[in-house]
Amino acid sequence: MAQQIVEKEILEILEKNRQKCAVCQKCSLGKSRTKSVFSGGIPNHKLMLIGEAPGYWEDQKGEPFVGKAGILLDKIFASVGLSRQNDVYICNTLKCRPPDNRNPLPEEKAACREYLDVQVGLLKPKIILLCGNIAVQSFLEGSRGITRVRGQWFDGPYGSKMMPIFHPSYLLRNDTREKGGPKWLMWQDIQEIKRVYDSLS
Ligand code: URA
Repeated sequence: MAQQIVEKEILEILEKNRQKCAVCQKCSLGKSRTKSVFSGGIPNHKLMLIGEAPGYWEDQKGEPFVGKAGILLDKIFASVGLSRQNDVYICNTLKCRPPDNRNPLPEEKAACREYLDVQVGLLKPKIILLCGNIAVQSFLEGSRGITRVRGQWFDGPYGSKMMPIFHPSYLLRNDTREKGGPKWLMWQDIQEIKRVYDSLS
């Protein structure tokens, strides 16, 4: 287990931001959400996953990745011995659910960025996984689609290594296990992520 101790001050600031986010009205999603979804998993300095936005179940429960996509995400991590309980801090680009799960609007992403910047800036994770196109667009310049950039390491904030990976919802829609297919590619990517994860102190 590679859990690292996160300083009390950092946990306190994260908690303050969670509370601020819970009553946030910086964009119109503040009116339509049930619960904001600040983070899940374990705060740590090693591994962070950034997804898109809460869906129906996340909005109900206030936890990220608890629907079908989340179950698959947990399985992907478990396949290399990682878990959200012990190893991964999970958050989203948007903290509130867009109605009908539509794509986030630019003004929603801009309003919510403050929270993501706090999370990344405080934890300064050594590895950041950009899960799906929306997260990729928030950190990589240009309009390169996920299929072109997945599995590659990029320089991220605070000296981190950043890798775009397929979103589990995409894998659920493209269920083939064929060599070269999305699931097969994800399997390559998670093994590479684990290799680098293990090499970190
Ligand atoms: N999809 C995401 O990107 N995030 C969640 O929390 C749930 C589904």
